Amino acid sequence: VVSTVLAVSGSLRAGSANTGLVRMAARLAPDGLAVTVRDGIDLLPHYNADLDTPDTVPDVCTAWRDDVRAADALFLAVPEYNYGPSGVLKNAIDWLTRPVGEHAIRGKVIAIVTSAGRGGGSRVQPPLVEILGLLGNTMVTEPAIMVAKGNERISSDGSTTDPEIETLVRARLDAIVAALTEQRDGAS
Ligand SMILES: Cc1cc2nc3c(=O)[nH]c(=O)nc-3n(C[C@H](O)[C@H](O)[C@H](O)COP(=O)(O)O)c2cc1C
Repeated sequence: VVSTVLAVSGSLRAGSANTGLVRMAARLAPDGLAVTVRDGIDLLPHYNADLDTPDTVPDVCTAWRDDVRAADALFLAVPEYNYGPSGVLKNAIDWLTRPVGEHAIRGKVIAIVTSAGRGGGSRVQPPLVEILGLLGNTMVTEPAIMVAKGNERISSDGSTTDPEIETLVRARLDAIVAALTEQRDGAS
C-alpha cells in the first residue's frame, strides 16, 4: 500500500528553511510513502464566510480542500511568527476547517515541524497540535523537530549541512507510516 502525504511550507520566502524541510521530506520518503510538495497556499484568499458558499467558493479553495481530502497524511513545516504560525498557513488551515463536520482536515495523520529563530519555535506547535487533534486528526509529534536558526543549516532545495536534521525527518516519516498502519488496522 502506498500512502500519500501532502507536504506544505508555511513560509513564502524563496530561501525558506521550512520549504527546505518539506522538500527534504519528499527526498527522504521511505518506501510506501509518496510525499508531494503542495505549493500555492498564498493564492488562497483570506478566509471570508461570505465567499464560502457553494455558489461563491473560489476554485483555488476547492482545489486546496480536494488535495487535502485526497491525502492520507499532511507534513506541515510551520515558521513561528510572533509565537504563532505564519498568517498564510493559518489562513490555509482555516479554509480546511469549514464546513464543520464536512471539513477536509479530519481523519488525517499530521506531522508538524518548524524551523524558526533562536528559540526553535517551541511555542508554535503545541496549539496547532491541540486544535488539529480536536478537529479529528491523529497528530504525530515525535521525534520533535524544532530547528533553531534553521536557515543557517537548511537550504530551500531540501539539502542540509546537518545530518541530524535528516535523521529526525526520516524518523518522523517512519512515525507517519506507523500511524497510518495503525489507523488502517483499526479500521479493518
Ligand atoms: C514577523 C516575524 C516574526 C517572527 N517571530 C518569531 C518568533 O516568535 N519565534 C522565533 O523563533 N522566530 C521568529 N521569527 C523568525 C522566523 O521564525 C525565522 O525567520 C524562520 O527561519 C522563518 O522561516 P523560513 O526560513 O522558512 O522563512 C520571526 C520572523 C518574522 C518575519
